[in-house]
Amino acid sequence: MTDKRSQNSYLAPSLIVRQNPDIKYLGKLLGDVIRAYGGEDLYRRTEYIRSTSVDRHRGLADTSAIDPGLDALSLDETTDFLRGFMLFSLLANLAEDRQGVAAEEGASVTEAIAKLADEGVNKKAILALLDNALIAPVLTAHPTEVRRKSVIDHRARIAELLLMKDAGADTTPEGDALDEAILRQIALLWQTRPLRRERLFVTDEVQISQSYMRDVFLPLLPKLYDKWEKVLDARLPNFLKLGSWIGGDRDGNPFVDADAMHEALSRAAETIIGYYLACIHSMGAELSISTELATVPDEVIALADASGDDAPSRKDEPYRRALSGIYARLSATHLKLCGHVPGRPSSITAKHYDNPQQLHKDLVTLASGLSASGKDTFTSSGALGRLIRTVELFGFHLATLDMRQNSRVHERVIAELLAKAGVEADYLSLDEKARVKILRQELTNNRPLVSPWIDYSEETAKELSILRAAAKAHDQYGPEVIVNYNISNGETVSDILEVYILLMEAGLYHAPAHDDDLPICPIMAVPLFETVADLENAPQVMSDFFALPEMQALTRSRGAQEVMIGYSDSNKDGGYLTSTWSLFKASEALTPVFKKADVKMQLFHGRGGAVGRGGGSAFGAIRAQPKGTVDGRIRITEQGEVIAAKYGTMAVAETNLEAITSAVLLRSLEPDPSDQKVHAVFADAMDQISQTAFAEYRDLVYGNDSFRTFFRQMTPLTEIAKLKIGSRPASRTKSEKIEDLRAIPWVFSWSQARVMLPGWYGVGQALTAFDDIEKLKDMAQSWPFFQASLSNMEMVLAKSDMGIAARYATLVEDEDMRESYFNRIRSNWEKTRDILLEITDQPHLLAKNPSLFNSIELRLPYIEPLNHLQIELMKRMRAGEEDPRIGEGIQLSLNAIATALRNSG
Ligand code: PGA
Repeated sequence: MTDKRSQNSYLAPSLIVRQNPDIKYLGKLLGDVIRAYGGEDLYRRTEYIRSTSVDRHRGLADTSAIDPGLDALSLDETTDFLRGFMLFSLLANLAEDRQGVAAEEGASVTEAIAKLADEGVNKKAILALLDNALIAPVLTAHPTEVRRKSVIDHRARIAELLLMKDAGADTTPEGDALDEAILRQIALLWQTRPLRRERLFVTDEVQISQSYMRDVFLPLLPKLYDKWEKVLDARLPNFLKLGSWIGGDRDGNPFVDADAMHEALSRAAETIIGYYLACIHSMGAELSISTELATVPDEVIALADASGDDAPSRKDEPYRRALSGIYARLSATHLKLCGHVPGRPSSITAKHYDNPQQLHKDLVTLASGLSASGKDTFTSSGALGRLIRTVELFGFHLATLDMRQNSRVHERVIAELLAKAGVEADYLSLDEKARVKILRQELTNNRPLVSPWIDYSEETAKELSILRAAAKAHDQYGPEVIVNYNISNGETVSDILEVYILLMEAGLYHAPAHDDDLPICPIMAVPLFETVADLENAPQVMSDFFALPEMQALTRSRGAQEVMIGYSDSNKDGGYLTSTWSLFKASEALTPVFKKADVKMQLFHGRGGAVGRGGGSAFGAIRAQPKGTVDGRIRITEQGEVIAAKYGTMAVAETNLEAITSAVLLRSLEPDPSDQKVHAVFADAMDQISQTAFAEYRDLVYGNDSFRTFFRQMTPLTEIAKLKIGSRPASRTKSEKIEDLRAIPWVFSWSQARVMLPGWYGVGQALTAFDDIEKLKDMAQSWPFFQASLSNMEMVLAKSDMGIAARYATLVEDEDMRESYFNRIRSNWEKTRDILLEITDQPHLLAKNPSLFNSIELRLPYIEPLNHLQIELMKRMRAGEEDPRIGEGIQLSLNAIATALRNSG
C-alpha cells in the first residue's frame, strides 16, 4: 500500500491559503512561549516540523518525505510537541471564531423579519407564530468535549483581551499591557495540564454546564428578547428557553441516580437564586427614589411597608425598602431550596417565595410603579425589565431538566412490578397488543402497583427512586422543572405507556376519576426514534398512540406532543445518506398524523457536533427541514464541544441563538419554494439513492464480523474509551458488536483516523449508480435538503485524508483483511469525492466555500504530524511497551486532533 499524499489530494496544491492575521499574531506568541518555557531546542524542532508540514501540504516540498523530524523526538519531546500543536489549533479556532467564520449570511432575526416582509409575511403573522412557539437548545453531557474547563477558560480570557485590543486599547482596565496580558494567558495555557487525571463525575458535568448558563444564557436571553421586541415593537412571549439533560439523562449512565438529579436541581436553584439576589442587591443601590421627590404608587408603598425593612435612613425610599423585602424572601427561598443561606444573607427574617410567580409579581409591582412615575425605561427594558424576563424564563429551576432512560429498562421494571403485584406473571413475553392492553388497564386504575412491603431488584428500586425524586422536584421547583421524559430506543406504543405507568407510581400521572375527566400528567413521555426501522415506523406508532382516546385527550390538553429523532444512531445503523433521508421522511410523514390528531408536533433533534452525528450548520439544517415540521416548535441538543463553540462567549452565543431563531421563523413562515410535483420526483430519486447507499454501508459495516476487528485495530477506539471526558461509560454493554457500541466512540474513532466514514460512506456508490446526473445536479441546486446533506458531506471529505488513513490501516494485523477493507473504503471515498465535484460543478472540494476552505486548509498541515505520532505511539503500546508516557502521549494526540478538527464524536 502506498501513502503518497498526492494520490488523494483534493485541494489544488497551488492555492494560496489566506492567513487570518489573528492566527499569525497568536501563533507568534505561542512560539515565544514555547521558546521561553520549553527551550530553544523544542522550539526549533517544532518550528521545523511545522514549516515542513505546511510546505509539504502546499506542494512546496518533497511529498514523499513523511514528517521529517518526528521520529527523532524523544517521548518527553513528543508530549511537548503534541501540546504545542494542540494549542496552536486551539488558538487558530479562537481566531476564526472571532472572524465569524461560523456566522452565516441572513442568520439573524432582524434579517429574517426583513426577508419575510419582502415575501409578504407581516409582523402580525410573526407574532402569532411566536405565541405558540418553543425554541429550546438543550445542553447535554455527551462525552465529546476533550478540553478541560480550565483550558476553555483561558481561551475565553484571551478572547476578551483580543476584544479590548480591537477596541483600540493598549492596556487592560487594570493597567496591564494587552500584548503582555495575552502572552501571559498563553503561557498559562502552556503550563496547564490538558488531560484530566481523574474521571469526571456527574456533579462536574453539572457544574460545567451551569457555568455556561450563569455566565452566558442568563444575561444574554433577556437582552435578546429586548432587542427583538424593539424590532417587532411588541412584548414577546417566552418562546426561547433553555433545557438540560445533565443529571436527568441516565440512559447507559449508572451514575445518574436520584441523588445526582437532586444535586443537579439544587445547584441550578443555587445558581439562579444567587443571580436574582445579586441583581436585587445592585438594584437596591440604584433605586434611591425618595417619596419627597417623586410620586410613588400605593402598591409600591404597601410592598415597602410589608418588607420588614424599617431602617430610618430609608424611610422615604420605598423602592429600596421593597427591594430589601424581596431580597429577604429570596434569601429564605435559597435556604429552602438549596439547604443553606446565601453567601450574603439578609438581615431581615422573611417567608420564602412559594414559586417564581410570587417573585415576578413583586418585581412587576416595582416596574409599574416606576413607569407610573414616568420612567418607562424601567418596565420593558433596563435592569428591572430584564430581571422580570429572567424570572419568566428561568424560574427557580434555571433550565428545564429532561429525564431519559432506555425503553429496555422500563420494560424490565414494569415486568417486575406487574409480576410482584400479581397482575401479569410474564410481561416480557407478551406481544405488543397484549402489553398495551394491560398498560391501559393499569392507567385507568389509581391504585398503586408498588408496595412498600415488597422487595424489588436493585434496578427497579433505583428507577422508582429517581421517579420519586422527580415528583419531589415538581413540588419544590414547580411544574417547569421537568417537562419531558425521553425514551431511548422508542419503538412502540407500549414503550410510551410504560413511562406513564412509572409516572403514575410516582404520583405524577393521575387517571381520570370520572368518565368525562381527562388524565393529568405534568411530564410528557417522548419517544426517541433512532434506528432506520424505528424512524420508518414512527408515523404508525404515533398514529396508534393518538388512537388511544386517553392519550389523545392528554396530549390535546397539553397542546403539543414531542417526538425525538436520533441522528447518530440512525447513522450508525444505516449510514449517512439513509440516516438523513430517513429523518427527513419520518418528520414529513409524522406531520399528517399530528394534524389528524389535532395536536401540535414538536420535534426534538438529537444531534451532535460531527456530521456523522447530525452536526453541521443549525441554520442550514432547520431551513432544510420538511414543510410543516417546524411550525415554531423545535428542540435541539447541544452537546460536548459544541457547547463551548456555540455558547462560549456572549457574542458567539448571540450569533448562534439568532441563527436558530431566525431559521425557525423562516422555515415556519416562508412560503414553501418547492413545487410538490418536483418534490415527489426528488423524493423518488432519493429513495433509490438511499437504498443503494444503505446496501453498500450495511454490507461493509455489518456484512461480516471481521469488520469489527478491522475497525478496532485500525482506529484508536480502545484508547478513546480511556479518555476521561465524561461520567458515563463508553459502552452500554461488554459486547464487541458495532450494534452495541455507542455512536460517539464510533464516530470519534473514524475521525481520529481521518476516515470519517460515518459522514460519507456509501454515498459515492449510490450517486454514481444513479443514472440521471442532470437530476442530481438539479437536486443539488434547488432542494435545500439535498444541498445541506451534500454540503455537510463536503466538509467531512475535506477533513478526511486517505493518505493518512492508509497509515492507520497499517495497524491492522491481518494483511488480507487490511487490504480488502481499506481498498474498498478508499475507492468509495474517491468515488464520493468525484461524483460530488461533478454534481456541484467544482474543480476541487470547497471551491465554492472559500472561508471554510481556508479554515480547513490552514489546519491540515498541523494535523498530519499529530496523526503520525498517534499511530507510532499506538504501535508501541500495542507491541507491549509499558512506559506511561506512551499512553499519555496517545491521549494528548486524541485531544490535539479533536481540537484541530473541531469535532470529536
Ligand atoms: P446516546 O447519543 O449515545 O446518548 O444515545 C447518541 C449520540 O448523540 O451520539
